[in-house]
Amino acid sequence: MTPVLLDCDPGHDDAVALIYAARHLDLRAITTVFGNQSLEHVTRNALSLCRLVQLDIPVAAGADRPLVAQPIHGGTIHGKTGLDGAELPEPDRAPADMHAVELILRTARAHRGELVIAATGALTNVALALATEPRLKDWLRGITIMGGTTGIGNVTEIAEFNIYADPEAADRVLRAGVPAWLVGLDVTRRVGVTAADIASLRGGGVLARTMADLLDFFLASLQRVHGLSTASLHDPCALVPFIDPSLIEYRQCCVQVSLDPGLTRGVTVADLRRLRNVQLGQIRPTGPANVHLAREPSPALVPHILAAIREVDARLT
Ligand code: BDR
Ligand code: CA
Repeated sequence: MTPVLLDCDPGHDDAVALIYAARHLDLRAITTVFGNQSLEHVTRNALSLCRLVQLDIPVAAGADRPLVAQPIHGGTIHGKTGLDGAELPEPDRAPADMHAVELILRTARAHRGELVIAATGALTNVALALATEPRLKDWLRGITIMGGTTGIGNVTEIAEFNIYADPEAADRVLRAGVPAWLVGLDVTRRVGVTAADIASLRGGGVLARTMADLLDFFLASLQRVHGLSTASLHDPCALVPFIDPSLIEYRQCCVQVSLDPGLTRGVTVADLRRLRNVQLGQIRPTGPANVHLAREPSPALVPHILAAIREVDARLT
């Protein structure tokens, strides 16, 4: 099983990612970053989820703000706590007595050449870790990210939340030379659970019922704010390349992040021309492929994620 560190901002879909990773991967550690709510809230949520899932792994808090700009929070979607909609257990322990950067470096050192970082929030912690220890890039098997879009955005017209939350960090991570997988909103919005899917979890145990409550809240937010009819399981998509690559098709591509202060800030610019066999003629290609970019999700993915929730639920004591 692939050793994984989940760098996240739980967050409803981050919670699903945590369970999906616990079912199919060797989840070694969790680090938290501001985003769906304040760092304090998302760290507390990560600890509550660990208790719910009976996961005894270190959880360390990281950045409470981006590298250069002011923090944004996703309360309109995820609520006042970042995980509104369900009664979660109180955390039964404190976060680890170290910064997320330290936990990332320790975990990567201990699993040299094998560790995958799954980043489902702003990329601030990962950028800081790469700056603190440049050898980190050689210690990682890869980084797999939920972020960006090649279509419409969810913060601005064309920017996605995780990249927009810290574009400078995203830019540094995508330029770092670490093998990278990137799944954007254009794909994750096609990986959505319906109200009927959510209702089907209600026949299960405490974990499945809690996830049903959380996903009901998430679906209602996405309906209200974005007019969606399904709850997008953005974050678990990032784990797919290391669980079952047949569930999302990825293609190698050059992706850059716009750091411009204006209309395009935080936008991911993907050079899709060569994927579509566009004749470039005299036009210079942007640059070498730096990521595997998600293109096409399989219809089997949502059932696979829902099955993971049921399976983890069934093995809880
Ligand atoms: C991303 O933003 C967050 O609100 C979600 O948890 C996900 O990581 C989707 O744009
Ligand atoms: Ca997230």
